[in-house]
Amino acid sequence: MPETPLLELRDVRTGYGPIEVLKGISLEVREGEIVTMIGANGAGKTTTLMTVSGLVPLRTGAVLYRGESLAGIPPHKIVEMGVCQIPEGRRIFPRLTVLENLEMGGFIRKDRAGIADDMEKSFHRFPVLRERQAQLGGTLSGGEQQMLAIARALMARPRLLLLDEPSLGLAPLIVSKVFEILREVNKDGVTLLLVEQHAKLALKTAHRGYVLETGRITMSDAASALLADPRVQDAYLGS
Ligand SMILES: Nc1ncnc2c1ncn2[C@@H]1O[C@H](COP(=O)(O)OP(=O)(O)OP(=O)(O)O)[C@@H](O)[C@H]1O
Ligand SMILES: [Mg+2]
Repeated sequence: MPETPLLELRDVRTGYGPIEVLKGISLEVREGEIVTMIGANGAGKTTTLMTVSGLVPLRTGAVLYRGESLAGIPPHKIVEMGVCQIPEGRRIFPRLTVLENLEMGGFIRKDRAGIADDMEKSFHRFPVLRERQAQLGGTLSGGEQQMLAIARALMARPRLLLLDEPSLGLAPLIVSKVFEILREVNKDGVTLLLVEQHAKLALKTAHRGYVLETGRITMSDAASALLADPRVQDAYLGS
């Protein structure tokens, strides 16, 4: 028997009002993996993550986390179960300090000592956040805000981290830094589902990938195989 995937979507359909956006998505993410979903604007990548997080209700199909259905479970419970989403555009709390943002990330936890420990780990991983812990989140640079968004999510001790376009709007040097951190986070045992328009970088980072086209998965393979596939190269890698 193969082990139960950490996350599994089975023929998921959902949308907004009369419009169906996801037209039967099936995918799985195994514990320890980095899985990426690439696709053009409007394909339904964000909608997929929001459906897992419980922010967009599932219409038909199933979302299973550790074999358990997430249908109808409120978003904050899903966070407590170990699934944490970093939304597109990072949405840290702009009027809270860096330190307060990190504290908010740990708010679902009761273990004070563990929280203090993880705060120290965040500062170790992101020295810039230690330097700027008293600064308001909204005044950080884009790259610093992305670091804060990742650090804040990690404060919830997620088992599965959902990332929506972490490279968006960042300078290339900062993007490499962010992806390097994501690899480290994964090595520390956090499973990642990474949605990205920067397909090349995403496929270089991930173990496996899915291609989403207007609400349907059209390809899935090892990330290296997708990188080498002429159809992926033509459509997403600009070569
Ligand atoms: N709240 C909403 N109400 C109505 N339609 C929506 C809503 N959010 C998204 N959509 C529509 O659903 C489709 C998929 O959007 P989604 O944000 O999931 O795409 P995406 O793949 O993340 O795109 P991008 O790469 O631009 O972020 C789009 O046609 C979008 O207009
Ligand atoms: Mg999106």
